[in-house]
Amino acid sequence: MTDERFDDQPRLVFWELTKACPLACVHCRAVAQSAPLPGELTTREGMKLIDELAVGPTPHPILVLTGGDCLTRPDIVELATHAKHRAVSVAIAPSVSARLADPLLAQLREQGVSHVSLSLDGATATTHEEIRQVPGHFRATLDAIGRLREAGFRVQINTAVMKHNVRELADIAVLLHGAGVRVWEVFFLVNVGRGDKIDDIDPAEAEDVCNFQPCNNGSKGETYNGHQLCYVDGQEGI
Ligand SMILES: C[S@@+](CC[C@H](N)C(=O)[O-])C[C@H]1O[C@@H](n2cnc3c(N)ncnc32)[C@H](O)[C@@H]1O
Ligand code: SF4
Repeated sequence: MTDERFDDQPRLVFWELTKACPLACVHCRAVAQSAPLPGELTTREGMKLIDELAVGPTPHPILVLTGGDCLTRPDIVELATHAKHRAVSVAIAPSVSARLADPLLAQLREQGVSHVSLSLDGATATTHEEIRQVPGHFRATLDAIGRLREAGFRVQINTAVMKHNVRELADIAVLLHGAGVRVWEVFFLVNVGRGDKIDDIDPAEAEDVCNFQPCNNGSKGETYNGHQLCYVDGQEGI
């Protein structure tokens, strides 16, 4: 066992820069809104926070800038630049919107930001957009994955599992593999914020999700990374 002291020096620090977001997803735990909250950290306060991460031994914690939509902050490049000068690695978790534009991405890439996570909540436009509430958002998300990869970012995709998409996990995996995504984080919906009105998935579905994994029993179903996929209902695949 390694003697890592995460209380003294965490590996990852998530800073929710703002509550502002141009989307209004049905499940949003943050209850994100169009305008920032009064009292969000100023640029100077944010820089001080970064300075605090930069004391102590290297490697310093990785700072994940999230929200809301971190790209609504006009100082995001300034903050990334400050972090670069302090040898603090930065990753971003933006919302997919018009703000996720190539010139801004190029500026962030120049400041050393190399990892980006986006959300994909369904294998079809219907499911994803029922959750994200923006027509065309499924296509925009797939396009954003391609643009980010072309710009040299490592892309992680996050999927919150809920009633709407619990039966689409295998298809999402295939889709992401085809799009060149190699890191996929899947987590359960937490019934807080706007998500408190969404019905829980059934216990059996939850168990299937926990057991969901690529398998190679050579039976029917889609293949992923050379493996046969288990479908979450256990009927269409293995
Ligand atoms: C709060 S968002 C911030 C980044 C960005 N706005 C986005 O949606 O990708 C981070 C992740 O939390 C997920 N999320 C939001 N509300 C949630 C909830 N109630 N339970 C579980 N995950 C949730 C989102 O789907 C997203 O993948
Ligand atoms: S994009 Fe993220 S922060 Fe914005 S409403 Fe959706 S889940 Fe909330």
